[in-house]
Amino acid sequence: MTVNEIRQKFIKYFEGKGHVVMPSSSLIPKDDPSVLITTAGMQQFKKWFSNEIKPKYPKTLTIQKCVRTNDIEEVGDKTHLTFFEMLGNFSFGDYFKEESIKWGLEFVEKELGVDRSRIWVSIFAGDDKTPRDDDSEKIWQSLGITDIREFGREDNFWGPTGTEGACGPTTEIYVDDIEIWNLVFNEYYMQPDGILLPLESKGVDTGAGLERVAAKINDLKNVFETDELFQIVKTVQKLSEKTDTKAEKIITDHLRAATFMLADGIRPSNLDRGYVLRRLVRRAVRYGKLIDIKEQNMCSKVAEKIIE
Ligand code: GLY
Repeated sequence: MTVNEIRQKFIKYFEGKGHVVMPSSSLIPKDDPSVLITTAGMQQFKKWFSNEIKPKYPKTLTIQKCVRTNDIEEVGDKTHLTFFEMLGNFSFGDYFKEESIKWGLEFVEKELGVDRSRIWVSIFAGDDKTPRDDDSEKIWQSLGITDIREFGREDNFWGPTGTEGACGPTTEIYVDDIEIWNLVFNEYYMQPDGILLPLESKGVDTGAGLERVAAKINDLKNVFETDELFQIVKTVQKLSEKTDTKAEKIITDHLRAATFMLADGIRPSNLDRGYVLRRLVRRAVRYGKLIDIKEQNMCSKVAEKIIE
């Protein structure tokens, strides 16, 4: 299944469940000085979740451009990317755990064709601040899922983006060893001092990394073998004189991130998001030297493929 077929299936399935399709927002977050770059699908809906703005629709879906650099050193492994697309279905005071879990599982099994034997799930174990997610456990059990593992705050509590905002416990779908579907149950507002206040209306924020999903369901070794990324990797390979699969992947990822950041109006600088962009380009160039890329216009040659 190609990356684009997955995008289309996602749109069709969740549109069929009453979600309004909305475009990805810019990588420059609007009206949110607490973050530099859009890192998640929920970013454009932060004020809808917190009810600072009345939600325009009760249910939406997006395929969001995201940049995350916290795991930059891991790029080149099986799953990590600094730029990726996030499939997300969202509820603002509409459906909650029951439907989101049922639909997530149905999409993974029926639409993506993942065999039940490969699926296991995780729930939030609870701690001194937030109770254990017994409800999700019961819902998974009612759907016949038996491998339910529980993890703490680090793995199964998401958000907020930036220093404050909506956040909550998560339940996640794993296929073999990889998490592909993350349902965040936004029940709290985290203040900048870390205190959690209950939200007026509860919401659902789904995050499913498109490239990870594609790699997993096609039984590929890593995200760089998915059809769209692989074309970029091949472009880098053609320019290089040495074979170094890790460097090729890093260049592919970083220049893809840089191209999308530039397209959204970010420019290299020594400050804030401009510095993130500069760092990505510099890192790509450094890896280009490492594999003896002589082409002076490496970045623009690779960007042409990315744009295509
Ligand atoms: N906002 C949910 C996620 O990033 O997985």
